[in-house]
Amino acid sequence: MTNILILGANGQLARNTTRVLLRDTEARLTLYLRRAARLKNPDPRRVQIIEGDVLNLGRLTDAMKGQEVVYANLAGDMKSQAERIVEAMHASGLKRLIFVSSMGIYSEVHGEKYRSVLDPYRDSAAVIEASDLDYTILRPGWFTQGDAIDYQITQKGEPFQGHEVSLNSLSDLIVKLTVTPDLHVRESIGVSQS
Ligand SMILES: NC(=O)c1ccc[n+]([C@@H]2O[C@H](COP(=O)([O-])OP(=O)(O)OC[C@H]3O[C@@H](n4cnc5c(N)ncnc54)[C@H](OP(=O)(O)O)[C@@H]3O)[C@@H](O)[C@H]2O)c1
Repeated sequence: MTNILILGANGQLARNTTRVLLRDTEARLTLYLRRAARLKNPDPRRVQIIEGDVLNLGRLTDAMKGQEVVYANLAGDMKSQAERIVEAMHASGLKRLIFVSSMGIYSEVHGEKYRSVLDPYRDSAAVIEASDLDYTILRPGWFTQGDAIDYQITQKGEPFQGHEVSLNSLSDLIVKLTVTPDLHVRESIGVSQS
């Protein structure tokens, strides 16, 4: 049984992935978010909820006790968030990090120049890639709804394929990453509908 800490647990993708993790695995989840009253505990036997800001190093480090996998689903000041996560993971002896970023951070999307809007994504990815963690950085296309699980992966240095990917496809991949310790370790992968 894997213990997974989900940072930014009220995010759209995090909520979808929480649902899939509870449905498809036996993992125990810790949902870490600001203003925790917004979230109803979906399964108190397997889920605990912690109110906290990722920028609060002490609280973040406390939340990492007993965890095996950290899944970060954040937005905003992502460089500072990545720095705190790396520091807290070091202090906690944790290695496995799944970090959601965005397509376009390496100018890998043909015909698109996202420039400064992607700076927090680019800078946070650089922080994580420079760490010694067992990270997987996800670079998804635009999120879509729908049940189909249909995605392809491109590696760093390869052109991104397509423009979108379903939330369910991303959740499927994140679940596989959380339960398969060596899958896509130390890779930054583009994820798009095939
Ligand atoms: N939507 C798309 O098509 C698309 C495509 C590619 C990549 N992405 C990126 O993928 C990531 C995940 O997407 P999403 O739709 O799940 O994002 P989202 O709904 O915006 O969720 C991001 C979460 O991060 C939390 N957060 C921000 N700063 C925090 C902090 N200091 N401490 C704790 N939590 C913090 C937010 O919490 P609060 O609610 O408290 O603010 C929010 O719940 C985002 O970075 C998004 O930009 C999205």
